[in-house]
Amino acid sequence: MRLFFALWPPPATARALADWAKGVARVAGGKPVAAENIHLTLAFLGDADPGKAAAAAKEVRCEAFDLPIEVSEYWKHNQIVWAGPAQIPERLARLVEALQFELYRTGFILERRPFAAHVTLLRKARTPPTLPDLPPVQWPANEFVLVQSRSSSEGSYYASLKSFGLPRSQ
Ligand code: 2AM
Repeated sequence: MRLFFALWPPPATARALADWAKGVARVAGGKPVAAENIHLTLAFLGDADPGKAAAAAKEVRCEAFDLPIEVSEYWKHNQIVWAGPAQIPERLARLVEALQFELYRTGFILERRPFAAHVTLLRKARTPPTLPDLPPVQWPANEFVLVQSRSSSEGSYYASLKSFGLPRSQ
């Protein structure tokens, strides 16, 4: 099973970001990510055992935070347009670190690729002229999810297998 951990936005946020991506696609081509597929990957496991992955995630003790979506960029190397925070929020960095630590302890061997907080919104795009302003969106991260990814000729399909709460501090 191809698995990853991610933050999933509230539906209104996903919708606003998907609409923005459709606007960019009009000038840069490519395939906008469907609203229901928009997410921020925390850790990519590839082919892995979901029970073991969930056991590791259960040990993570981190707090909720708000994810700012304030910058957008085009990456030429993989032809994506993404949005995300200008700087990684401290609580997001701690969550990624804690999750990686628990995954290592459970026996997962993760990629050494450094974490890049990005939300892919458009794939297979050409270099866009200038990117339009992002819509103002709220993305409260109150939980993270273990997700199964399946590919078909129509693209990727994601199924949330289990969610893990992030308590809000007072
Ligand atoms: P992407 O959006 O930059 O393509 C499901 O495929 C999620 O896992 C996507 O967010 C994707 O990032 C990410 N992903 C896919 N393959 C990966 C890999 N080898 N290493 C890290 N992240 C990966």
